[in-house]
Amino acid sequence: MTAPTRWEAAGEGNLEYGRRFGQLVATGADIEGEARLADAMAPRHARILDAGAGMGRVGAALAARGHRVTAIEPDAALVAQARETYPELDIVETDILGFDTDERFDVIVCVGNVLIFLAEHTERDVLARLRGLLAPGGRILAGFHPVGGPTTSRPYRPEEFVADAEAAGLRVDHRFGTYELRPPSDDYTVWVLSSAL
Ligand SMILES: C[S@@+](CC[C@H](N)C(=O)[O-])C[C@H]1O[C@@H](n2cnc3c(N)ncnc32)[C@H](O)[C@@H]1O
Repeated sequence: MTAPTRWEAAGEGNLEYGRRFGQLVATGADIEGEARLADAMAPRHARILDAGAGMGRVGAALAARGHRVTAIEPDAALVAQARETYPELDIVETDILGFDTDERFDVIVCVGNVLIFLAEHTERDVLARLRGLLAPGGRILAGFHPVGGPTTSRPYRPEEFVADAEAAGLRVDHRFGTYELRPPSDDYTVWVLSSAL
């Protein structure tokens, strides 16, 4: 039996995420900042993996821009919300570590704090799995709060994240503070990673 992710361990404490994004979709708010940056990183009609897709907002925005998107998400309630909200989105109910595919991706998005909600001690395995899913020349876009994230998440300081990424065979190409490419900040970290191998 595998350890629960920090997201699962939060139980009902994580329901607010789905509710909040459901409301934002209903009001037409802009929730596509991550997708715009991923789109800028990608060739046209790219193969994109949305890893830890939640209710599907990022993957759906990328599919709407003409990319071939696969979304993966282990939380059954969020998969159901994604299917209802974005019926065209190809979403698979699975953890990153259990995702079985021969496909390789030009861009992998792993944004919205996914990496601070992983199961304990799986960070390097998850990062190595994401590296293994990259097509030649492919890149990962990741983003999370390094400290002060949601209560059930972990602190993930930049130096620790860089050490884990490098141990997983990844290279840090860029670090920013926002998805609009503001300079690095202590509040939020946005990373562009590629395979070092
Ligand atoms: C705050 S939600 C963000 C969802 C989405 N990326 C977004 O930005 O809207 C964090 C997500 O990380 C997912 N997650 C945590 N550990 C994971 C893992 N090992 N594999 C896949 N998803 C995971 C959770 O299930 C949850 O949906």
